[in-house]
Amino acid sequence: MSADLIDGKLIANHYREQLKETITELKRKDVVPGLAVILAGDNHASRTYVRMKRKACSELGIHSELYQFDESLPQQDLVNKIEELNDNAHIHGILVQLPLPHHINPIKIIETISPSKDVDGFHPVSIGNMVTNQDTFYSCTPLGIMKMLEYEKIELTGKHVVILGRSNIVGKPAGQLFLNRDATVTHCHSKTANLSDFTKQADILVSAVGKAGLIHAEDIKEGAVVIDVGMNRDEEGRLCGDVDFNEVKEIAGKITPVPGGVGPMTITMLLYNTVKSAQRSLIDRQKQ
Ligand code: GUN
Repeated sequence: MSADLIDGKLIANHYREQLKETITELKRKDVVPGLAVILAGDNHASRTYVRMKRKACSELGIHSELYQFDESLPQQDLVNKIEELNDNAHIHGILVQLPLPHHINPIKIIETISPSKDVDGFHPVSIGNMVTNQDTFYSCTPLGIMKMLEYEKIELTGKHVVILGRSNIVGKPAGQLFLNRDATVTHCHSKTANLSDFTKQADILVSAVGKAGLIHAEDIKEGAVVIDVGMNRDEEGRLCGDVDFNEVKEIAGKITPVPGGVGPMTITMLLYNTVKSAQRSLIDRQKQ
């Protein structure tokens, strides 16, 4: 293997240790960071994610509350619950696990969350602040990628970053965060013609498509940094990313594995945003 492995678990632990110290300081000032998690319906993957997020909270001493609803819940019930949580001083972050049942409008639900508690970074106010390069809550996976690259001391200024995928949760905000850091950003997606022409130009390639075996050795520039956000199953049912790891590791300079790459960073950034919100609430309280 020629590429260095970017160990997401190790880097996530590094940031979690820092968070533990901040949480201890907050608790000394009688602030316990609190996260409310809303899960509606019966999506198996969502249940797993929510369990992992709450476990991570409990490991760090963040208080978490789970609100579970049936698939058939009226949209207004969800709106009412979020409004109640917006007014709850013990809750610093509100996370509504997506996808929601089909009859519920996710935009309306996200807009109901107070921007001051939007620890997923999905609210239009958070997105507007991100686009105008102001401090705000950033979407957890893109933020996790930036923190990983920071830990690895990878220079971003003037680098060509090629992003595969244009989701609201990963692709679009990731491109914006790289742009904010003075990288040159190309967005590719399912309608991009001659994808390989673009990926071969990348100093940093971020693949967030969700398709096993999408990227091979011939698609990569020698020495490139490869960040694999994909979460797929291969033919044997094993977890894998979008990138053919065994091939690409021989060409890339640095590469994230799946599992153990971006995944642990995403959850850590949810904890980071929740703690950041608790810190802000303390500052607001001290101003009063
Ligand atoms: N569904 C898939 N990813 C996410 C995420 O990061 N946050 C929420 N709330 N739902 C998701």
